[in-house]
Amino acid sequence: MLRRLHADQPDSFAFTPANQAWAEAQITKYPEGRQASAIIPLLWRAQEQEGWLSRPAIEHVSEMLGLAYIRGLEVATFYFMFQLQPVGSVAHIQVCGTTSCMICGAEDLIGVCKEKIAKNPHEISADGKFSWEEVECLGACSNAPMAQIGKDYYEDLTAERFTAMLEELARGEVPTPGPQNGRYASEPLSGLTSLTDYDSGKTQYNASAQLATDIGDTVKRIDGTEVPLLAPWQGKAANAAKKPAKAARDDMMPPSGPDGAQGGRAKGAKAADRTRGAASDGVAEATGEAPETQAKAKPKRGSVAPTPKTDVKAESGTPAATPGKKPRTMKAPRKAGADDLKLIKGIGPKLEATVNSLGFFHFDQIAKWGQDELAWVDQNLEGFKGRASRDNWVEQAQKLARGEETEFSAKASKDGRYN
Ligand code: FES
Repeated sequence: MLRRLHADQPDSFAFTPANQAWAEAQITKYPEGRQASAIIPLLWRAQEQEGWLSRPAIEHVSEMLGLAYIRGLEVATFYFMFQLQPVGSVAHIQVCGTTSCMICGAEDLIGVCKEKIAKNPHEISADGKFSWEEVECLGACSNAPMAQIGKDYYEDLTAERFTAMLEELARGEVPTPGPQNGRYASEPLSGLTSLTDYDSGKTQYNASAQLATDIGDTVKRIDGTEVPLLAPWQGKAANAAKKPAKAARDDMMPPSGPDGAQGGRAKGAKAADRTRGAASDGVAEATGEAPETQAKAKPKRGSVAPTPKTDVKAESGTPAATPGKKPRTMKAPRKAGADDLKLIKGIGPKLEATVNSLGFFHFDQIAKWGQDELAWVDQNLEGFKGRASRDNWVEQAQKLARGEETEFSAKASKDGRYN
């Protein structure tokens, strides 16, 4: 089948703040130089958010991964898991039409699609709720015929059951995934002839259907608030002692000058504590010392905020080889824990790790950067050069350091990013 981009494209695409954070965290799973491998999960998340993949979405993901657009387009147009045109608001239904399913009644299911949804594949139903297509083998041949709906498999289908399922979905219900004829998994239809004590320890549904039921994201669109944003490969949530803003201010390092920005932690810092993850792991007792620079640092993969080595010599204020002037840095966050720098627009989990590794953990540190210091930071954001000035980090940090909210931080909190 010819897979082309849809004729009508939106002007732009952006991940929700929570999905953006999720996507940036995904990228950190891959080794340096191999970030392009994150393209499938990122495209998939874009599709989960919007229902289909538009050209701006593909380009946005390609940009995040430093890929030429054609590379992103190659992937998106190759796999039929990616929808290149708008789909039904409730579900897009993929009916397997390959050999086993065809022999066992796939044509009847397609007949139901044509009658109940729309005459042609990829055509949206009159009520806007459904669309459908025929796809190649989905690997559930022993439970043929089957269809994938949302993220789940529905197996051992008949035209009658399939019709009833569409009605349930239209009413806002979600049919239980898995076999629809009473079969538990893919055992013989006539029943087990061996391993007959199989019943012991069984869950209500087979493992796949049980997991799908437990997770329950099925046909839902995902804006990121439904899934935990903590990435397990980045460490557990911080157990650092929490302190109110005033206490945090008391722990402040001496400002670099008499006009240093007001210290303290911004609104949302309490919530940030819950998601700081490894940013505070192992450093809760650190700091309270004079600012120090950290070794020329690159965040170690698998760690959001590596604890700086203690044998690094202090070089505070030493001009760096890169343009601009190196700002004063800290070797670890204050006792109350680091601020959630992801509240600054443009800083995701990966960039936060980089910024932490450079010795910046608090809004008031960033708030004090002048032009020269900003230039130095811009040059040292490996993979994100220029991002600090482009996204006005200093201006945002000044507000957050004063305990105010920015448009972005308010939205991020409202979207439940920290739940
Ligand atoms: S033939 Fe339909 S799942 Fe394999």
